[in-house]
This record gives sequence, C-alpha cells and structure tokens, in this order.
Amino acid sequence: MSSPLASVARAMVAPGKGILAADESTGTANKRFAPLGIAETEENRQKYRDLLFTMPDFGTFFSGVILYDETIRQNARSGKTFVQTLEASGAFPGIKLDTGVEHLALAPADEKITGGLDGLAKRVDEYVKMGAKFAKWRAVITIDEKTGLPTDACLSANAHALARYGAICQRGGLVPIIEPEVLMDGAMSHSLETSEAVHRRTLRFVFDALVDQNVNFGEMVLKPSYVIPGQKATSKASVREVAERTLAVLMDYVPASVAGIAFLSGGQGNEDATAHLNEINVLGKGHHAPWPLTFSYGRALQQPALNMWKGQDGNVDAAQKAIHHRARMNSLASLGQWSAQVEKEGALVLSH
Ligand code: 13P
Repeated sequence: MSSPLASVARAMVAPGKGILAADESTGTANKRFAPLGIAETEENRQKYRDLLFTMPDFGTFFSGVILYDETIRQNARSGKTFVQTLEASGAFPGIKLDTGVEHLALAPADEKITGGLDGLAKRVDEYVKMGAKFAKWRAVITIDEKTGLPTDACLSANAHALARYGAICQRGGLVPIIEPEVLMDGAMSHSLETSEAVHRRTLRFVFDALVDQNVNFGEMVLKPSYVIPGQKATSKASVREVAERTLAVLMDYVPASVAGIAFLSGGQGNEDATAHLNEINVLGKGHHAPWPLTFSYGRALQQPALNMWKGQDGNVDAAQKAIHHRARMNSLASLGQWSAQVEKEGALVLSH
C-alpha cells in the first residue's frame, strides 16, 4: 500500500528528474552575489530565483525545488507566488527547515550541530498550508585525519537531530530529505579511503537513529555526499573510483525501501558532479541498486547561471540557457546516459 507521502517521495526521484537546491539562506545567497558585484538585496534574490524557476522545460528536469523561508513567501515577476509558479511547472515546492549550524557543545572546535528542532512541528504545519510537499535538513560532518574527526558524539547528535526532524516532517505531512553532508571542500586534505570510512560511520549512525525514531523509509529521500577525497588532498580519485566507493557504501548502509537517493554537489566542479552521477547510475544498473540515484544540486546547477546573470535583466536569457544546460546534463546523468560528447555538444549550442 502506498501512502500519499510515499507517492510524493517517489515522484521526487522519478526517472530523469532531480531536485534544484535553491534554499540558500539570505547570508549564503549574499555570499554568492558579492564576488559578482550583485547588490545583496531582497529584490535581487527574488529576481534571481524568478530566473531559475521560470526556465523553459523546468518540470521536465526538476521534480522539486528546495526553497528558503524568504523565497516561499515571495511572488514571481508574473505576479503569481513562487509556489504557484513551481506547481504550474509540475515541480513540488520544498522548504529548508534547519536553521543552520553552530558549534556542538563540548566537542572539538570544528564539529557542528544543526539547529531548528524547537517549534518545528508548528513550522511544518505553516509550510504545509503554504503548499510545501517536502523538506530538507542538512547535517554537516567535518573530517580531520590528524585529530580523528568526526567524533562519535558529533555523528550521534546529528543523526538524532536528522531523525527527529524526519519524524516530525512525516507526522506533519512533508517528505523529509535527510541530508548528512560529509564535507569535501575548504581546507580538507583527507584521502578517498578516509572519506569512505567516515561515510560508513555517518550512515550507520543516521539509519540507526531513523529506525529508533520510527521514520518510514518509503516516505523519505536520502541526500548524501559522494565519497570523494578532500579538495586539498594530494591524491585525486578517478570518476570510476568515486562512483564505486560511493555505491559500495550506499549498498551496505541504505535500506532498499528508501524511496530514493538525491546527491548534493558539495563544491565539486559542475561537470565532475555530472560525471559522478552518471557513473554511479551506470554501475548501479549492473549492481541492481534498489533505489533511483539522482541529483539535488545547488552550486553545480546554479553557478554557471549566476555567473552569466550578474544581476542584469539583459542577461536573463543567457542565464536560463546556462541552467537549462546543466539541468539537462544532470537529467541524462541520472539515467546513466550522459557522456563527455553530449556535454560538449550542449556547451557548443550554448555558446551560439
Ligand atoms: P550543493 O549542491 O551546492 O552542495 O548544495 C546542495 C544543498 O542543498 C546543500 O545543503
């Protein structure tokens, strides 16, 4: 028997579709605008989201969009709300429910805990009334090979918070995206092997906590990071190695009844994120992976469009073409049908 939430969860990972993560908080959106000289105003954030959500063929590639509190309350240029705009395209509106990270008390300085549980049930009710169908909560796990991070304290606190959030969402009528992100960007220099070991520990804690809190796997989507060496690591990994190790970890720790897996991009290059998704789908078919494997990218979908837009109305078309290209490439990758050749041909069309 399929519940309404299970139907939404399955539709979020329908063949060829993925999720656009556009839930940057005001601070993060401003941080992305600043280097491009885009004024950090509410109007510009609204114009930018309008450009993204009114991209031609939006619903062909995107099953849903994760929104931030400011955005879910805004109107598109058309005068419709963003929620109505997304619904008209066939994509579900989703909402970021965590309130960001802070230092985990009594843990080493780099360890974080995600906040937002207090009063969450009320906020869920409010967003459901506004039309949200799913939600996201991001836990952040930092690796430090020298000092042995993450600690079990950090993994268990974050897993518990993810599971409590998941349960509150399902009770209130939202599909939870469970996002435990093992960081790869910044000053990280850990190896591929360490990344794999930490992903294993992280997912073990997360699924134990989800079971403890009675979260229904068929009514959730997992949003993991790829098993990838730290950005500053001396030894890089091939696309095949990343896909093999990521798939192996998921096959060992993610129950087959989970509705689907939608990866974050985490600071990878745009094409790397596409290549990894494609390869894991190719491998996944061979290994009979039980869940759809797709994308829920933020930066790897948006950055080319933002670079093109630069805050100028005259650049909206070019910016929409840029996100359309990345959306199409990742859609193909989610089917295991992407290639460097298709990427090149698409980029060629883009430059004309
Ligand atoms: P990135 O793909 O840029 O990592 O963002 C996805 C996301 O939703 C992070 O929480």
